[in-house]
Amino acid sequence: MAGPGQSSSTRAERLGTLNGAPKPLVTPSLLNCDFGRMTEELEALRQAGALAVHLDVMDGHFVPNLSYGAPVIADWRKYTGFPFDTHLMMSDPARYLDDFIKAGCDVVIFHIEAVPEPVPLLRRIRDAGCEASLALNPPTPLSAIEPFLDDVDSVLVMSVMPGFGGQKFDAQVLDKVRALRSARPEMRISIDGGINPSTVSAAVAAGATQLVAGSAVFRSDGNYAAALAELAESAGRVPM
Ligand code: DX5
Ligand code: ZN
Repeated sequence: MAGPGQSSSTRAERLGTLNGAPKPLVTPSLLNCDFGRMTEELEALRQAGALAVHLDVMDGHFVPNLSYGAPVIADWRKYTGFPFDTHLMMSDPARYLDDFIKAGCDVVIFHIEAVPEPVPLLRRIRDAGCEASLALNPPTPLSAIEPFLDDVDSVLVMSVMPGFGGQKFDAQVLDKVRALRSARPEMRISIDGGINPSTVSAAVAAGATQLVAGSAVFRSDGNYAAALAELAESAGRVPM
C-alpha cells in the first residue's frame, strides 16, 4: 500500500488509508503552514505520523478570504500520497469540480449553504471515484443535510464560521454531532475549527471521528509530532 510519502499512490489506495486509519483521526489543516516550503511541510507531517491532510480552499466569495486552488493542489499531489480531504469553501464548487478531481483530491466536501440542492454534485463526486461530503456552518441546522445523508460518505460539522484559522471553538455545534452520530452510527463525522487539546475530547465524546486541526498542529515550535500526540492523547487515543 502506498504510504503518505509516496507520490505514485492511487485514489483507491489513499481512500483505503483514510478509511483504515485508527479513529478518532487528527487531520492537519493546510492553512497555517509555510506555503513556501510545502514539500518540507508535507514530509514533516508524514514523519510526525499524520495519515491524511485537510485542504482549505477559499474563494473570497463564499468566505471572506482566499487560499489556494486546484493547480496548487495538483503540484502538492506530485510529492505526497496523503489522502486529500478537500474542503471547498466556494460559492460555485460545481464549476471547478473536475479540476479538483484531476488535481488528486480524494474526499470532496462542499457547503450545503452554497448548494442547497446537492444531490447531482454529490453523485458527480462519487462517480469520479472520490468520496462526497457535505459541510454545514454553525448556524445551519442538521435538518438542512438530513435528506441527503444517503448520498454522502461523511459530514463536516464546522465549529467556527469558515474563512480563517485560529478561531474559538463553538461548543453549541456538538448537539448536531450527537444527533448525527445517533442517526448514523458508522458515518465519518469531521469537526473543523478551534480543535485543540482542550476542545478535542468533547468533540470525540459527541461522536466526531475526524478532527481537523490547523493552528494546534502548526504551532510556533514546529514540533508537529508533539502536537499530534497531544491532540490524540486528549482525544482519548494512544498516539501513534
Ligand atoms: C476554517 C477552516 C479550518 C481551519 C482550521 O475556515 O475550514 O480548516 O483552518 O484551523 P484552526 O484549527 O486553527 O481552527
Ligand atoms: Zn476546513
